Amino acid sequence: MDIKDVVREKYAQAAIRVKTGESGCCSSACCGSGDSGDPITSNLYDTRQISDIPREAVQASLGCGNPTALAQLSQGDTVLDLGSGGGIDVLLSATRVGPAGKAYGLDMTDEMLTLARENQRKAGVHNVEFLKGEIENIPLPDNSVDVIISNCVINLSGDKDRVFVEAFRVLKPGGRFAVSDVVVRGEVPSEIRRSMELWVGCVAGALEEREYVSKLSKAGFEAVGVEPTRVYDVNDAREFLSGHGIDVDRVAPLVTNKFMSAFIRATKPTTTNRAS
Ligand SMILES: C[S@@+](CC[C@H](N)C(=O)[O-])C[C@H]1O[C@@H](n2cnc3c(N)ncnc32)[C@H](O)[C@@H]1O
Repeated sequence: MDIKDVVREKYAQAAIRVKTGESGCCSSACCGSGDSGDPITSNLYDTRQISDIPREAVQASLGCGNPTALAQLSQGDTVLDLGSGGGIDVLLSATRVGPAGKAYGLDMTDEMLTLARENQRKAGVHNVEFLKGEIENIPLPDNSVDVIISNCVINLSGDKDRVFVEAFRVLKPGGRFAVSDVVVRGEVPSEIRRSMELWVGCVAGALEEREYVSKLSKAGFEAVGVEPTRVYDVNDAREFLSGHGIDVDRVAPLVTNKFMSAFIRATKPTTTNRAS
Protein backbone atom coordinates (compact mmCIF):
# COMPACT_ATOMS: atom_id res chain seq x y z
CA MET A 1 0.00 0.00 0.00
CA ASP A 2 1.43 3.40 -0.84
CA ILE A 3 1.05 6.41 1.42
CA LYS A 4 -1.95 7.76 -0.50
CA ASP A 5 -3.87 4.51 0.00
CA VAL A 6 -3.08 4.54 3.72
CA VAL A 7 -4.21 8.17 4.00
CA ARG A 8 -7.43 7.44 2.08
CA GLU A 9 -8.22 4.45 4.27
CA LYS A 10 -7.66 6.36 7.53
CA TYR A 11 -9.81 9.29 6.50
CA ALA A 12 -12.54 6.99 5.18
CA GLN A 13 -12.67 5.48 8.67
CA ALA A 14 -12.81 8.96 10.18
CA ALA A 15 -15.80 9.89 8.01
CA ILE A 16 -17.61 6.66 8.88
CA ARG A 17 -17.06 7.26 12.58
CA VAL A 18 -18.67 10.69 12.33
CA LYS A 19 -21.65 9.23 10.47
CA THR A 20 -22.11 6.48 13.05
CA GLY A 21 -21.91 8.99 15.89
CA GLU A 22 -18.53 7.97 17.23
CA SER A 23 -15.76 10.51 17.80
CA GLY A 24 -14.27 12.37 14.83
CA CYS A 25 -11.30 10.17 14.16
CA CYS A 26 -9.53 6.90 14.54
CA SER A 27 -7.31 7.35 17.61
CA SER A 28 -4.31 9.50 16.82
CA ALA A 29 -3.93 8.08 13.33
CA CYS A 30 -5.51 11.21 11.81
CA CYS A 31 -4.63 14.87 12.18
CA GLY A 32 -5.14 15.02 15.91
CA SER A 33 -7.35 12.51 17.66
CA GLY A 34 -10.57 14.41 17.06
CA ASP A 35 -10.93 14.48 20.84
CA SER A 36 -11.84 17.72 22.56
CA GLY A 37 -8.42 18.04 24.21
CA ASP A 38 -6.35 17.18 21.17
CA PRO A 39 -3.45 19.64 20.78
CA ILE A 40 -3.67 19.90 16.97
CA THR A 41 -7.39 19.76 16.18
CA SER A 42 -9.14 21.24 19.22
CA ASN A 43 -10.63 24.73 19.58
CA LEU A 44 -9.93 25.98 16.08
CA TYR A 45 -13.21 27.77 15.47
CA ASP A 46 -15.02 30.53 17.28
CA THR A 47 -18.46 29.37 18.50
CA ARG A 48 -20.16 32.21 16.64
CA GLN A 49 -18.34 31.34 13.42
CA ILE A 50 -19.73 27.79 13.38
CA SER A 51 -23.20 28.44 14.80
CA ASP A 52 -24.85 27.86 11.39
CA ILE A 53 -22.68 24.90 10.37
CA PRO A 54 -24.17 21.36 10.67
CA ARG A 55 -22.97 19.49 13.76
CA GLU A 56 -21.51 16.63 11.68
CA ALA A 57 -19.33 19.06 9.72
CA VAL A 58 -17.93 20.43 12.98
CA GLN A 59 -17.44 16.92 14.39
CA ALA A 60 -15.58 15.88 11.24
CA SER A 61 -13.20 18.82 11.51
CA LEU A 62 -9.66 17.45 11.42
CA GLY A 63 -7.78 20.58 10.53
CA CYS A 64 -5.01 22.39 12.36
CA GLY A 65 -6.08 25.98 11.79
CA ASN A 66 -8.86 28.25 10.64
CA PRO A 67 -7.94 29.33 7.11
CA THR A 68 -11.17 31.18 6.32
CA ALA A 69 -10.68 33.40 9.36
CA LEU A 70 -7.26 34.46 8.06
CA ALA A 71 -7.87 34.42 4.31
CA GLN A 72 -9.08 37.49 2.50
CA LEU A 73 -12.39 36.36 0.94
CA SER A 74 -14.74 38.70 -0.92
CA GLN A 75 -18.27 38.45 -2.24
CA GLY A 76 -18.21 36.87 -5.70
CA ASP A 77 -14.89 35.03 -5.20
CA THR A 78 -14.33 31.44 -6.32
CA VAL A 79 -12.66 29.47 -3.51
CA LEU A 80 -11.14 25.99 -3.63
CA ASP A 81 -10.47 23.93 -0.49
CA LEU A 82 -7.79 21.28 -1.04
CA GLY A 83 -8.70 18.17 0.99
CA SER A 84 -12.07 19.43 2.14
CA GLY A 85 -12.95 16.49 4.45
CA GLY A 86 -16.39 16.92 6.04
CA GLY A 87 -16.67 20.34 4.42
CA ILE A 88 -16.47 22.79 7.32
CA ASP A 89 -14.19 25.31 5.60
CA VAL A 90 -16.09 25.04 2.30
CA LEU A 91 -19.36 25.86 4.05
CA LEU A 92 -17.74 28.78 5.90
CA SER A 93 -16.28 30.04 2.60
CA ALA A 94 -19.66 29.77 0.85
CA THR A 95 -21.13 32.26 3.31
CA ARG A 96 -18.24 34.65 2.86
CA VAL A 97 -18.31 34.65 -0.96
CA GLY A 98 -22.12 34.91 -1.11
CA PRO A 99 -24.50 33.76 -3.84
CA ALA A 100 -22.41 35.47 -6.56
CA GLY A 101 -19.39 33.38 -5.52
CA LYS A 102 -18.65 29.68 -5.42
CA ALA A 103 -16.87 27.36 -2.99
CA TYR A 104 -15.37 24.10 -4.25
CA GLY A 105 -14.20 21.30 -1.98
CA LEU A 106 -11.78 18.73 -3.41
CA ASP A 107 -11.18 15.39 -1.72
CA MET A 108 -10.05 11.92 -2.84
CA THR A 109 -11.95 9.94 -0.20
CA ASP A 110 -15.48 8.83 -1.17
CA GLU A 111 -16.67 8.57 2.43
CA MET A 112 -15.58 12.15 3.16
CA LEU A 113 -17.28 13.39 -0.02
CA THR A 114 -20.53 11.67 1.00
CA LEU A 115 -20.34 13.26 4.45
CA ALA A 116 -19.52 16.68 2.99
CA ARG A 117 -22.42 16.54 0.52
CA GLU A 118 -24.80 15.58 3.35
CA ASN A 119 -23.50 18.52 5.34
CA GLN A 120 -24.07 20.80 2.36
CA ARG A 121 -27.67 19.56 2.13
CA LYS A 122 -28.20 20.15 5.87
CA ALA A 123 -26.71 23.63 5.58
CA GLY A 124 -28.99 24.38 2.60
CA VAL A 125 -26.27 26.15 0.60
CA HIS A 126 -26.25 26.10 -3.19
CA ASN A 127 -23.03 27.87 -4.11
CA VAL A 128 -20.97 24.80 -3.10
CA GLU A 129 -19.66 21.84 -5.09
CA PHE A 130 -17.65 18.93 -3.77
CA LEU A 131 -15.32 17.39 -6.37
CA LYS A 132 -13.67 14.00 -6.27
CA GLY A 133 -9.98 14.13 -7.08
CA GLU A 134 -6.45 14.51 -5.87
CA ILE A 135 -4.76 17.71 -4.86
CA GLU A 136 -1.82 16.67 -7.07
CA ASN A 137 -4.16 16.72 -10.13
CA ILE A 138 -6.79 19.38 -9.50
CA PRO A 139 -9.84 18.82 -11.73
CA LEU A 140 -10.37 22.50 -12.54
CA PRO A 141 -9.22 24.65 -15.48
CA ASP A 142 -6.23 27.00 -15.49
CA ASN A 143 -6.79 30.49 -14.02
CA SER A 144 -10.24 29.67 -12.59
CA VAL A 145 -9.92 30.21 -8.80
CA ASP A 146 -9.50 33.40 -6.74
CA VAL A 147 -8.47 31.80 -3.45
CA ILE A 148 -7.08 28.41 -2.50
CA ILE A 149 -7.58 27.35 1.09
CA SER A 150 -6.63 24.07 2.76
CA ASN A 151 -6.58 22.83 6.33
CA CYS A 152 -3.95 20.31 7.35
CA VAL A 153 -3.81 18.37 4.09
CA ILE A 154 -0.72 19.37 2.11
CA ASN A 155 1.51 17.75 4.76
CA LEU A 156 -0.18 14.44 3.83
CA SER A 157 0.91 14.59 0.18
CA GLY A 158 3.86 12.56 -1.04
CA ASP A 159 4.38 15.05 -3.90
CA LYS A 160 4.12 18.56 -2.50
CA ASP A 161 5.89 20.16 -5.47
CA ARG A 162 3.14 18.86 -7.70
CA VAL A 163 0.47 20.25 -5.32
CA PHE A 164 2.03 23.72 -5.47
CA VAL A 165 2.35 23.61 -9.28
CA GLU A 166 -1.32 22.62 -9.55
CA ALA A 167 -2.42 25.30 -7.06
CA PHE A 168 -0.51 27.87 -9.10
CA ARG A 169 -2.06 26.64 -12.35
CA VAL A 170 -5.70 26.89 -11.22
CA LEU A 171 -5.33 30.25 -9.46
CA LYS A 172 -6.15 33.34 -11.47
CA PRO A 173 -3.36 35.91 -11.86
CA GLY A 174 -3.33 37.78 -8.54
CA GLY A 175 -5.03 34.79 -6.86
CA ARG A 176 -4.25 33.96 -3.25
CA PHE A 177 -2.97 30.81 -1.54
CA ALA A 178 -4.20 30.87 2.09
CA VAL A 179 -3.52 27.59 3.81
CA SER A 180 -3.28 26.17 7.33
CA ASP A 181 -0.81 23.34 7.71
CA VAL A 182 1.61 21.69 10.11
CA VAL A 183 5.14 23.01 9.62
CA VAL A 184 8.46 22.11 11.22
CA ARG A 185 11.11 24.57 12.33
CA GLY A 186 14.54 22.90 12.17
CA GLU A 187 15.49 19.25 12.02
CA VAL A 188 13.44 16.43 13.56
CA PRO A 189 14.62 12.90 14.34
CA SER A 190 14.51 10.50 11.40
CA GLU A 191 12.43 7.97 13.35
CA ILE A 192 9.57 10.49 13.25
CA ARG A 193 10.00 11.02 9.49
CA ARG A 194 9.97 7.25 8.91
CA SER A 195 6.70 6.56 10.72
CA MET A 196 3.79 5.91 8.33
CA GLU A 197 1.33 6.37 11.20
CA LEU A 198 2.80 9.75 12.07
CA TRP A 199 2.65 10.72 8.38
CA VAL A 200 -1.06 9.92 8.31
CA GLY A 201 -1.35 11.87 11.57
CA CYS A 202 -0.10 15.06 9.84
CA VAL A 203 3.27 15.05 11.65
CA ALA A 204 5.88 13.07 9.69
CA GLY A 205 5.13 14.66 6.30
CA ALA A 206 5.24 18.25 7.55
CA LEU A 207 7.58 20.47 5.54
CA GLU A 208 10.34 22.44 7.18
CA GLU A 209 9.35 26.12 7.23
CA ARG A 210 12.06 27.30 4.79
CA GLU A 211 11.36 24.37 2.46
CA TYR A 212 7.67 25.40 2.35
CA VAL A 213 8.69 28.90 1.28
CA SER A 214 11.20 27.69 -1.28
CA LYS A 215 8.82 25.15 -2.86
CA LEU A 216 6.07 27.77 -3.20
CA SER A 217 8.54 30.23 -4.71
CA LYS A 218 9.79 27.57 -7.12
CA ALA A 219 6.20 26.98 -8.27
CA GLY A 220 6.01 30.68 -9.16
CA PHE A 221 4.35 32.22 -6.09
CA GLU A 222 5.42 35.54 -4.62
CA ALA A 223 4.85 37.28 -1.26
CA VAL A 224 5.20 33.93 0.50
CA GLY A 225 4.81 34.07 4.29
CA VAL A 226 4.56 31.52 7.12
CA GLU A 227 2.86 32.70 10.31
CA PRO A 228 2.76 30.28 13.27
CA THR A 229 -0.69 29.98 14.81
CA ARG A 230 -0.01 27.26 17.42
CA VAL A 231 3.41 26.02 18.56
CA TYR A 232 3.52 22.55 20.13
CA ASP A 233 5.32 22.24 23.47
CA VAL A 234 6.72 19.12 25.07
CA ASN A 235 3.36 17.96 26.43
CA ASP A 236 1.72 18.37 23.03
CA ALA A 237 4.62 16.46 21.44
CA ARG A 238 4.21 13.66 23.99
CA GLU A 239 0.55 13.44 23.07
CA PHE A 240 0.94 13.26 19.29
CA LEU A 241 3.99 10.96 19.40
CA SER A 242 2.65 8.42 21.86
CA GLY A 243 1.29 5.09 20.66
CA HIS A 244 3.43 4.98 17.51
CA GLY A 245 6.40 2.95 18.71
CA ILE A 246 8.46 6.08 19.42
CA ASP A 247 10.46 6.46 22.65
CA VAL A 248 8.39 9.45 23.75
CA ASP A 249 10.50 10.26 26.84
CA ARG A 250 13.59 10.63 24.68
CA VAL A 251 12.12 12.11 21.49
CA ALA A 252 9.45 14.56 22.75
CA PRO A 253 12.02 16.93 24.34
CA LEU A 254 13.98 16.92 21.05
CA VAL A 255 11.01 18.32 19.12
CA THR A 256 9.66 20.74 21.71
CA ASN A 257 8.50 23.95 19.97
CA LYS A 258 9.65 22.60 16.57
CA PHE A 259 6.26 21.46 15.30
CA MET A 260 3.70 24.15 14.72
CA SER A 261 0.45 24.86 12.98
CA ALA A 262 0.92 27.78 10.66
CA PHE A 263 -0.96 29.95 8.22
CA ILE A 264 0.86 30.02 4.90
CA ARG A 265 0.08 32.77 2.42
CA ALA A 266 1.33 33.39 -1.09
CA THR A 267 0.17 35.17 -4.23
CA LYS A 268 0.20 34.25 -7.91
CA PRO A 269 1.75 37.21 -9.73
CA THR A 270 -0.52 39.19 -12.01
CA THR A 271 1.97 38.59 -14.80
CA THR A 272 3.24 35.04 -14.82
CA ASN A 273 6.98 34.45 -14.85
CA ARG A 274 7.11 30.93 -13.46
CA ALA A 275 10.44 29.14 -13.66
CA SER A 276 10.01 25.85 -15.50
C1 LIG B 1 -6.68 15.91 8.01
S1 LIG B 1 -8.12 15.77 7.02
C2 LIG B 1 -8.57 17.48 6.90
C3 LIG B 1 -9.97 17.67 6.40
C4 LIG B 1 -10.46 19.12 6.39
N1 LIG B 1 -9.56 19.98 5.64
C5 LIG B 1 -10.64 19.64 7.78
O1 LIG B 1 -10.06 20.66 8.13
O2 LIG B 1 -11.40 19.03 8.52
C6 LIG B 1 -7.41 15.40 5.45
C7 LIG B 1 -8.40 15.30 4.28
O3 LIG B 1 -7.66 15.42 3.08
C8 LIG B 1 -8.00 14.39 2.19
N2 LIG B 1 -6.77 14.12 1.40
C9 LIG B 1 -5.57 13.73 1.88
N3 LIG B 1 -4.68 13.63 0.89
C10 LIG B 1 -5.32 13.98 -0.25
C11 LIG B 1 -4.93 14.08 -1.63
N4 LIG B 1 -3.69 13.80 -2.02
N5 LIG B 1 -5.86 14.48 -2.54
C12 LIG B 1 -7.14 14.76 -2.15
N6 LIG B 1 -7.57 14.67 -0.86
C13 LIG B 1 -6.67 14.30 0.08
C14 LIG B 1 -8.45 13.24 3.07
O4 LIG B 1 -9.31 12.38 2.36
C15 LIG B 1 -9.13 13.98 4.21
O5 LIG B 1 -10.49 14.19 3.94
